[in-house]
Amino acid sequence: MKKLIFGAALAALSAVAAAQGQVNIICSVQAEWCNMISTVYARTTGVKVNMSLKGSGEALAQLIAEKENPKTDIWFGGTGDPHLQAAEQGLSAEYKSPSLAQLHPWAQQQAQQSGYKTVGIYSGPLGFGYNTELLAKKKLAVPKVWADLLKPEYKGDVQVANPASSGTAYTMIATLVQLMGEDKAFDYLKSLHKNVSQYTRSGTGPIKAVARGETAVSISFVHDGPGEKMQGFPVETVTPADGTGAEIGSMSLIKGARNLEAAKKFYEWALTPAAQEMGAAAKQFQLPSNKAAKLDPRIPDFRKIKFINYDYAKYGASAERRRLIARWEKDVNSLPK
Ligand code: F6P
Repeated sequence: MKKLIFGAALAALSAVAAAQGQVNIICSVQAEWCNMISTVYARTTGVKVNMSLKGSGEALAQLIAEKENPKTDIWFGGTGDPHLQAAEQGLSAEYKSPSLAQLHPWAQQQAQQSGYKTVGIYSGPLGFGYNTELLAKKKLAVPKVWADLLKPEYKGDVQVANPASSGTAYTMIATLVQLMGEDKAFDYLKSLHKNVSQYTRSGTGPIKAVARGETAVSISFVHDGPGEKMQGFPVETVTPADGTGAEIGSMSLIKGARNLEAAKKFYEWALTPAAQEMGAAAKQFQLPSNKAAKLDPRIPDFRKIKFINYDYAKYGASAERRRLIARWEKDVNSLPK
């Protein structure tokens, strides 16, 4: 009898879950944030959330692969350039959120530029991470400008991600090209190659390596530093005094999504101040795109950073992104150390 009642209750519960539907998400921020939004959203709405974690470049590759038969409903987070590329390639669905006016202009501009096929959910500056103890031990100075990373004393002590899989690394290439001009930027990347010990798959790999003392310096988004420091690691960050770029972390609904209505609800929720404040609660300190979101003091102060005038439309275009990554593979990654 008890078994029967329990079975009936379970069936009723799963019927409720089925009625609330499900949403399939690719999440391109760090695991703690992905897990937090997935758990909170599922608990508060009854919607089943299936989430897979992928770097920006890998997420785009998966969406291209499943274009004819999409298994993903929504892509949350990751650098904006591949989201723009997804829009251009017809992988994402047009949607004009009623919440757009609540967002910072840079987030709205990301939406306009894509024909409302993506939207900015956060922003963050590119810079350097460094291990204070290792630098002191090796008597190395804190890098202040891009050229500092080319100094011979940093040989084997710099890490950055691979731009084919990582939006962070692609942001670095696009930033350098805009800062120096393309040929000079590639000369720079070739020299940098001599000092790089490893190109990691994920953009956050290098700052984690800095934190654990595996390398002295990383090229990273500076909002990824405080989370490592909060775990007790000797990590600091700095932005190059000669200028840097910033990402517009984005979110896109997938064209042909099987759960489009459920995905739109999640999308709206993800634009609310409460949902955006979960980034800092998960120890990730990007600047939220909703103007009403409360700002954690560990979020980088954009007013103190020298930014280039990053051309998001140009560097988010498919042909440009593919061309620059291919040039990096051919001219830089193929070189011996
Ligand atoms: O989650 C941290 C983060 O730095 C995001 O701000 C950024 O959008 C993402 O990682 C990029 O990851 P990747 O370089 O692996 O594509």
